[in-house]
Amino acid sequence: MSSQQASSSSPKRKVGILGATGTVGQRFILLLTAHPDFEIHALGASSSSAGKSYAKAVAGRWKQAKAVPANVRDLIVQECTVPNFKDCDVVFSGLDSGPAGPVESSFREADLRVFSNAKNYRMDPVCPLVVPLVNPGHFDIIPHQRATLSPSPKKGFIITNANCSTTGIVVPLKALQDAFGPLDKIMVSTMQAISGAGYPGLSSFDIHDNVVPYISGEEEKIESETAKILGDLSKDNNSFVNAPVTVSAHCNRVPVIDGHTECVSLSFQRRPPPSIEQVQAALRNYVCDAQKLGCHSAPAQTIEVHDEPDRPQPRLDRDWQNGAGVNVGRVRDCKIFDVRFVVLSNNVQIGAATSSVMNAEIALKKGYLD
Ligand SMILES: NC(=O)c1ccc[n+]([C@@H]2O[C@H](COP(=O)([O-])OP(=O)(O)OC[C@H]3O[C@@H](n4cnc5c(N)ncnc54)[C@H](OP(=O)(O)O)[C@@H]3O)[C@@H](O)[C@H]2O)c1
Repeated sequence: MSSQQASSSSPKRKVGILGATGTVGQRFILLLTAHPDFEIHALGASSSSAGKSYAKAVAGRWKQAKAVPANVRDLIVQECTVPNFKDCDVVFSGLDSGPAGPVESSFREADLRVFSNAKNYRMDPVCPLVVPLVNPGHFDIIPHQRATLSPSPKKGFIITNANCSTTGIVVPLKALQDAFGPLDKIMVSTMQAISGAGYPGLSSFDIHDNVVPYISGEEEKIESETAKILGDLSKDNNSFVNAPVTVSAHCNRVPVIDGHTECVSLSFQRRPPPSIEQVQAALRNYVCDAQKLGCHSAPAQTIEVHDEPDRPQPRLDRDWQNGAGVNVGRVRDCKIFDVRFVVLSNNVQIGAATSSVMNAEIALKKGYLD
């Protein structure tokens, strides 16, 4: 029997959602409401939401086109403590970084499996930082992660996904690294949606008719996370070996609701570099592991390469593949680097909740939820 058959014939795994009332949390609710492998069992948020039904907790703050699903309307939102989630097979975290650090580690200590969107454990030397379209092989450090803890959890772990602006670029970068060998230098300028800052985010007065050329900590995250994600696990599966890339990032907030646009220029180590036609073909032909494993949330195609000169655009392209794939356009020569292109990714889908859910689907197929 294939792992795919095994997962679909097993009972659904009970899942908890921390930060369930927030921007990312609301996407978790929609993604997990009719999921074939997971069912929502418990919801958590801050003490100002705890004790209310989910419908009451998000009243006036539910920002999705679909209504609050019937299966969660009457669920009572809990404080984010272990006893309230002890029956969950999987816990998804959309917590702010303030509470995320201590809450997620206490959950792991209590033998819970945590899939986190927060920054706290992304660069931890034993926590995988996994973009499911790129590096699910990094899950194989999990036994070592458990072994480094005392007492060592039998089932518990923390798996993180990347910052939303990192997620968009590492997908085409991985396709090119696989096809043409190590990358050398990468320069990226971002135009990031306001939903990336959570709700309510910047005031309308600050973002309308404006571009804000600073997002705290964002450039550092892209520069460090990219090397970890594109890197390998050591042969003994006990440490991460960063990819030998140098990344320089400029990050800007722009008046777009959802969808991060990023202009990338890069050079390869290989001389001569591949042609533009070879680069386009490598992007089009890239098939990620989540697709190969048949994950429910995986895109049918990982990267859409546009030929039109004015695509991708957030309004037109952010919902391609339900926001689970990545759009690339304007692939062309670069007079300073080797090649340049534009990337668009849905920051709240593949940049956040969809990545966590797909990571859990991959973990299920690889046996890490047994
Ligand atoms: N937005 C994105 O595009 C994006 C992308 C990737 C990663 N992330 C990361 O995902 C996380 C959530 O981001 P977001 O945009 O969804 O933020 P958000 O809209 O501000 O939501 C934050 C959530 O955390 C809860 N919370 C806040 N303080 C808490 C506390 N002390 N204890 C328990 N729960 C608490 C909030 O509950 P209440 O409603 O009760 O206050 C809410 O559910 C952050 O770490 C962020 O960096 C976001």
